[in-house]
Amino acid sequence: MKQLFCTINDSSSEYVWNTWSDEAKSMLKNMTNELSGIVTKVEQIEPSEQYGLSYIANTIMTPNLNSSIKEIANCLYMFKPSEEIVLLQDLLFDDFGASELHALFSLLSAELCKDRSCTISFHSPIESETADQGFPVHADLFCSRVLFNVISFMDDNDGGDILLLSNQQLQKAMKDCEDMPARAKNIIIKLLTNRSHKDKFNEVFDLMYRQDSWSYELIQKIDERLMRIPTKVGMGYLIIDGLWLHGRSAIRGPVHSKRLQRLVFDNKTTLSFPYVNLSAADNEYIDELLKKTHRLNKKSKSKSLSFKAKSILPNSNIN
Ligand SMILES: [Fe+2]
Repeated sequence: MKQLFCTINDSSSEYVWNTWSDEAKSMLKNMTNELSGIVTKVEQIEPSEQYGLSYIANTIMTPNLNSSIKEIANCLYMFKPSEEIVLLQDLLFDDFGASELHALFSLLSAELCKDRSCTISFHSPIESETADQGFPVHADLFCSRVLFNVISFMDDNDGGDILLLSNQQLQKAMKDCEDMPARAKNIIIKLLTNRSHKDKFNEVFDLMYRQDSWSYELIQKIDERLMRIPTKVGMGYLIIDGLWLHGRSAIRGPVHSKRLQRLVFDNKTTLSFPYVNLSAADNEYIDELLKKTHRLNKKSKSKSLSFKAKSILPNSNIN
């Protein structure tokens, strides 16, 4: 397959949108029957980390399905989003719905780990929520750094806009944030733009959003620069996590566990990133700040969308 996605020509939109290429769509149509019969189960694929859960497809693939999965995985592996965001829509169509996407991501997460030097990839479950408070822009900062998120289920017009912010815009927001120390800004950028052997979500999230001295000001500066996109089923984005930050505004009503489907992996681009090398002074600085951080409970370490963002950001206007 030459390309997985193609650009949609829509001059009325302020953004460049993409969707499956004709070739990819035709391949997905041919896979639909088999995908819809696949049963998945959740497995802990990273024993030491809370986030290491992934759906695993419980199936033996036919040669045709196996070959299609390999082709799509190869496209994702070779894909070079570089610093651009790939905004996607119309990813679900006809019989290729949420269930088929779920089966596809489960198969791809296993395939992307095979023979491609990828450290780990997963299609991670999302926790359902009875009431939602949104999630400010953040980077997941898993050890694997390509993030393919797709909205696959929602109640009509639930109000949960997609929020996106480029690393460059974050740097501008931090530059304008006078109370934020240069060391904190530098650490955040280092952690966002380099790979790490360990998940660094909490470090960056705490430095951005849990500091009495500068978080309120930073949130204001970020808010001025956010991309806000009204959500529709079938929409998604493909980003290098950290070069773009993502989040969403609060949803009216409960959050369904199938609202978002997430495939996380490394590819040829992200595997070439250098590993972060913080100085001893940087590490001490982080440790001191994290000690001061008031953690609501252990669940806040989770990257599920259940994070009670607003309860620690009472002045945030993420809603
Ligand atoms: Fe996230």
